[in-house]
Amino acid sequence: MARLGVDFGTTNTVVMMHDRGMFSAVLHSSRTRAGTVVQEVFPSAILMHESSGQRWYGIEADRRFGQVGPGPGYVFVPSLKRRLHGYAEGRTDGESDGIAELLTGYLHALAESIRASQNFPASEPLEAVITWPANANGAQRHITRRCFRDAGFDVLDTLNEPTASAIELADCILAGRDAKEAPAPQAVAVFDLGGGTFDASVVWIDGDDFQVLASGGIEDLGGDDFDAMLLDMFLERLDIPVAGLGPLTHHALLRQTRSQKETIAGGVMKSLFLNPADFGLAGVPVSISVDAFNDRLRPRISPAIKTLGRVIKDATASEPRIGGAAGLTIYLVGGSSKLPLVAEMASEAFPKSRVVLTDKPFRSVALGAAICSTERVRYRDVFARHFGLIRLRDHGRAETFDTIFPAGTPIPRKGEPSLEKVAWYHPLHNVGHLRYLECTAVGEAGLPDGNVRAWSDILFPYDPAVPLTASLTQDGIEMTDRFSHDAVCEVYRCDADSVITVELHRPACHDVRTYEIFRD
Ligand SMILES: Nc1ncnc2c1ncn2[C@@H]1O[C@H](COP(=O)(O)OP(=O)(O)OP(=O)(O)O)[C@@H](O)[C@H]1O
Ligand SMILES: [Mg+2]
Repeated sequence: MARLGVDFGTTNTVVMMHDRGMFSAVLHSSRTRAGTVVQEVFPSAILMHESSGQRWYGIEADRRFGQVGPGPGYVFVPSLKRRLHGYAEGRTDGESDGIAELLTGYLHALAESIRASQNFPASEPLEAVITWPANANGAQRHITRRCFRDAGFDVLDTLNEPTASAIELADCILAGRDAKEAPAPQAVAVFDLGGGTFDASVVWIDGDDFQVLASGGIEDLGGDDFDAMLLDMFLERLDIPVAGLGPLTHHALLRQTRSQKETIAGGVMKSLFLNPADFGLAGVPVSISVDAFNDRLRPRISPAIKTLGRVIKDATASEPRIGGAAGLTIYLVGGSSKLPLVAEMASEAFPKSRVVLTDKPFRSVALGAAICSTERVRYRDVFARHFGLIRLRDHGRAETFDTIFPAGTPIPRKGEPSLEKVAWYHPLHNVGHLRYLECTAVGEAGLPDGNVRAWSDILFPYDPAVPLTASLTQDGIEMTDRFSHDAVCEVYRCDADSVITVELHRPACHDVRTYEIFRD
């Protein structure tokens, strides 16, 4: 039976298949005037025609956008996955529904393309292990999984993108060894710089057992930013304000800067070019030296190297063997790791580690997921951020962050019981305002710090006369000790997909209500 590993990336979606012991890339095809084009990446883009409402997805979107060029009446949505960041902020303006609908439409098109692929057995269900950024928050994970299901995929399991890459690398190392010789346990730090996100994880590999020791990332750093930066450099030279460009011209220019940026990896090009006339703009052709581009790139890549350093430090704290004989391999994956500056900066920053540049920057994640679909390996992830809620202290005079699941907490494996944490307390209000959030750090004052993201807000009536299902507003909250004699209780659970729920109990009333902690 065929099983799939799907890497829904910011720029590209890649699907790897396992069928009868073999792994292969699912090929997507598109018919053009010059014949049928077959490729293994399905671009994460949508093209829409405003008046007719017609939509094209993936390869068709990309190809038609190239054909119609910056024409009026079309809306081009590249880097679809980046739109999910806004989703996570819990927008209530209907925008979130729009994103879910776009994503489901896109994944439907992906499913059709897989079914149409020559190498996929037509009658089989789309059983898939799907991946997401280690740094993705709960709401992003939730919506991604739901849209995959709505589009007809049977989601067997989910895992973090860098974990998938570590599994792919380990499999590669194992394949090159004598099967009888068990390799020594070792650590791999995955550095995944893609189109839209940067992810880092340290994975401890012991035979077919993979344990994520620490994880982190930057959710808005990737090749898209480098394209925009290069475009800024060109526009500065041409003295054209970016604000004056129409959206389609802007996309077309970004496409040009992207392809220029991608030539650097070959090591031959010393300059990058733009001819404004190709885009209907005034001015003479301009060039920018690769050295000048690298100078601007360095401070953009530097936070990723720092994040990797922090993740390695956290991992070493829990597994001291990393600093010792076991050593550390740094595995560079993602399309943007092809920029020679990335490997250079990683080798400079971690001189004692072995820096390995993948030979399959686009496939690594999907292949790791496909390997997991065979159930040959066992893996465990950790919380990449602290999850908790704001509580009042000092009789309501101050706020504090109560961490429920700190970063680094191991997430249950498939089939294991959920994590559980219980909080009992005596309420000092008539209604509890439970403001959930996640953050990368907790500051000295005990408040969330670093990258902070709000999750659900839940109102919990402590007054036994008010039903748990009553609709409440924040306006009605008052401090009171009228309800403080009866203790209440919150039970938090996190399942193997890192979906978190809370049960709010009022033992004195014998009632309980369960919430999934998301904006959905
Ligand atoms: N030769 C190259 N040199 C530099 N960058 C490249 C090269 N080839 C591809 N890229 C960049 O890699 C990015 C796409 O990489 P990849 O497919 O790994 O990302 P993704 O998986 O779609 O995104 P993410 O993992 O961030 O969600 C694009 O920004 C692309 O321009
Ligand atoms: Mg990726």
